[in-house]
Amino acid sequence: MRILLTGVAGFIGAHTAIELINNGHTVVGIDNMNAYYEPSLKKARLAYIRKCTSKNKGLFSFSQKDIADLPAMEKIFKKGKFDKVCNLAAQAGVRYSFENPASYIHSNIVGFFNILELCVKYKIKHLIYASSSSVYGNNSKVPFAEQDCTDNPQSLYAATKKSNELMANVYMQQRNLSCTGLRFFTVYGPWGRPDMAPYKFMKKILEGEPIEVFNKGKLSRDFSYIKDIVKGIVAVIEGPNKSKHPIYNIGNRQPVELTDFIRTIEDTTGKKAKKVMKGMQKGDVYTTFASTLLLEQDYNFKPNTPLKNGIAEFYKWYTDFYKVE
Ligand SMILES: NC(=O)c1ccc[n+]([C@@H]2O[C@H](COP(=O)([O-])OP(=O)(O)OC[C@H]3O[C@@H](n4cnc5c(N)ncnc54)[C@H](O)[C@@H]3O)[C@@H](O)[C@H]2O)c1
Repeated sequence: MRILLTGVAGFIGAHTAIELINNGHTVVGIDNMNAYYEPSLKKARLAYIRKCTSKNKGLFSFSQKDIADLPAMEKIFKKGKFDKVCNLAAQAGVRYSFENPASYIHSNIVGFFNILELCVKYKIKHLIYASSSSVYGNNSKVPFAEQDCTDNPQSLYAATKKSNELMANVYMQQRNLSCTGLRFFTVYGPWGRPDMAPYKFMKKILEGEPIEVFNKGKLSRDFSYIKDIVKGIVAVIEGPNKSKHPIYNIGNRQPVELTDFIRTIEDTTGKKAKKVMKGMQKGDVYTTFASTLLLEQDYNFKPNTPLKNGIAEFYKWYTDFYKVE
């Protein structure tokens, strides 16, 4: 298949590209390489994609483009003759949406709208796009199931992801575009995102710096290992042109308390964390916990990486990449 993958230099995008290319698909990757976090890490991920797919050299190309730039994106679609599109490009992060809300409208609303329009115009068979567990807000019913209420997002980030789901619904019903939304739950692992807790904790613990623990550690997250998640994304991309459901949770279905997560990093690194207990952060939610029954039924999704192993892989990558002794 010929696949357009947006956000290819991002954490999830880079891993997804490698899997798709090594499965024999042609991937055109685009990313605007913005400086929300170090562009050097994004560049290194692109080099890693090339390294891991060197046996399939002709199958990958990269173009630095912004999904909010309609004329530039139209050229990509026109030339690409894609079968499917996987849209992972977005302004991510809950906390940053209080600092720079406009960047969320730019990438997640205007950019996503362009993707939808171009998918219709160029008769894309299936659009797979990233949503987020944050759409569940502070729902108290767990595990979170796809049909639960998602009307109370706690941040503009979550509101843009919920908007994507609504926009995709309209394009499915009125424009006959086949769309599948994947709600990700705190993904971690090698090449992870520097703005997320797993990375920040690893870095600070290794450097002997204090870590901020929000809500005194009484928060839990359905930490999901990147390799498990990529298997799920690729199964949906390679699957039928129309999913049985418009939206799927893609998580680990096993929430872990922050304090236990930190303890696993301490055990793996052999270093003690200096914890600074903080209150609840604006926009944060108390727990995330995915029900993944639908994805299991329809795509045989079975995450099976124990936290201890996932953290060990992350530690190995982190110390190699940053040359930590
Ligand atoms: N990582 C998680 O735990 C998680 C959780 C929930 C949802 N998500 C969603 O999954 C997707 C991938 O997340 P990630 O963790 O890989 O994030 P990431 O920030 O590492 O990757 C996103 C990539 O998109 C690019 N990008 C941003 N705006 C763009 C634009 N306008 N045009 C082109 N490229 C643009 C960025 O440069 C970045 O490389 C995002 O949509 C994110 O919101 C991720």
